[in-house]
Amino acid sequence: MVEQTFIMIKPDGVKRGKVGEIINRIENKGYRIISLKMMSATEDLLAKHYEEHVDKPFYPELANYMMSGPVIAIIGEGTNIIEGWRNMMGATNPTLAQPGTIRGDLAREWDTEAMMNVVHGSDSKTSAEREIKLWFS
Ligand code: RTP
Ligand code: MG
Repeated sequence: MVEQTFIMIKPDGVKRGKVGEIINRIENKGYRIISLKMMSATEDLLAKHYEEHVDKPFYPELANYMMSGPVIAIIGEGTNIIEGWRNMMGATNPTLAQPGTIRGDLAREWDTEAMMNVVHGSDSKTSAEREIKLWFS
């Protein structure tokens, strides 16, 4: 099924100069970039984006991390891209993410509260629709 997903290059990915590498991987895989913009996340936008995490103990540090610099927001399109992009990103914790995945190759753990892992991808069709509306409205 041709579907769309919300992809984000997080502030650490932008700061460390990984935008080109990550966009290359999207295009090399054969997915289409429908829309792309650089922007700064706000407190309000993040609370909506991470609604399932907003009450968790790590949320304040997560929000600080996500507001630590600009992000790249992308709408990607392709058959089963939601699952495909999650596979390309790898596990949430970059120490555990397999080599070959974006998080496995381009991220590592640091002695910081927030787990920095360079990319985001919607985890379901419902999240994808919600997140695309939120970031591209
Ligand atoms: P994302 O939503 O950013 O694509 O990442 P994900 O689905 O792989 O992971 P999720 O469980 O949704 O967590 C969202 C982001 O919160 C940070 N996190 N920190 N300190 C912690 O225990 C912890 N757990 C999650 C990570 O930046 C994660 O990507
Ligand atoms: Mg998530």
